[in-house]
Amino acid sequence: MEQQLQLLKEEALTKIENAISVKELNDVRVSYLGKKGPITDLLKGMGKLPAEERPKMGALVNVVRESVTESLEARMILLEEQAINEQLAKEAIDVTLPGRPVQTGNHHPLTRVVDEIEDFFISMGYEIAEGPEVEKDYYNFEALNLPKGHPARDMQDSFYISEDVLLRTHTSPVQARTMEAKGGEAIKIICPGKVYRRDSDDATHSHQFTQIEGLVVGENITMSDLKGTLDLFAKKMFGEEREIRLRPSFFPFTEPSVEMDISCFKCGGDGCNVCKKTGWIEILGAGMVHPNVLRMAGYDPSAVTGFAFGMGPERIAMLRYGVEDIRHFYTNDIRFISQFHRSEA
Ligand code: PHE
Repeated sequence: MEQQLQLLKEEALTKIENAISVKELNDVRVSYLGKKGPITDLLKGMGKLPAEERPKMGALVNVVRESVTESLEARMILLEEQAINEQLAKEAIDVTLPGRPVQTGNHHPLTRVVDEIEDFFISMGYEIAEGPEVEKDYYNFEALNLPKGHPARDMQDSFYISEDVLLRTHTSPVQARTMEAKGGEAIKIICPGKVYRRDSDDATHSHQFTQIEGLVVGENITMSDLKGTLDLFAKKMFGEEREIRLRPSFFPFTEPSVEMDISCFKCGGDGCNVCKKTGWIEILGAGMVHPNVLRMAGYDPSAVTGFAFGMGPERIAMLRYGVEDIRHFYTNDIRFISQFHRSEA
């Protein structure tokens, strides 16, 4: 039996040495030390031995068991360490490798132009006002001195929702709404927003586009305030050397009404393709708020005056960036949009 034990020990120790994974080693442990293993069997068989041999054999079996357990534990520590090292090596990150480039987005060119225009007017003390895109005929037309049947309504072909409700054709209804809400107080606002017209889409027309409205109402607001404001604006947006020119025009809600041109930023006024050889580029419509408009909104035209202007950021962006088709702004082709980076502004 002693010999048997010795063999068993050697066999176990060899298997332990040869185990190359934690799992294999565990199998060895179970097969030798487990409840059904040979060592347990030997201990169980002790009862059959003569009484005087039992202590000696018992001690021997214990020695073998301890030695197998010890080498099992030692091997286990080694194998576990190896396993951890292997995993660490596998998961190692090379911090010296160049990173993958991160795709960054950029602002839509139209958003950039609107932001810039807003920044300019906010710096001049204007506040931003907003109004609904689905608008009442009253605010879109009537309160702006365009009663039903007025021929100038044809200037802005409209999408009607019902007889009295339409998609606003310009941001001017926000003038009427703001005046009505302010109840006689002084006003200095701009209103950026979407507007809608029943136009066929082409390179220069879109059924939906953007406008920025401006309105200043107060005591002693004059045409020269309007002109000074527009002059500063033109220089800010198109360069310090820009001149502006006001041409007489017509809008039912302003009197007098003007159209503002800037001297061509490409040729400086000599005449080129951008200014169609005239040296001037039309930018926006403006005028002094019509007394009827003031009166309808509850202001006293003999006590206060005001000026208003309205412009199209698409047109400004097209001129600025040389975009030849307004539809580029809405199709959102990433190849188009990604051309406009902050640094190029
Ligand atoms: N609402 C006018 C338009 O859409 C622009 C405008 C606004 C003109 C304010 C004068 C004053 O054409």
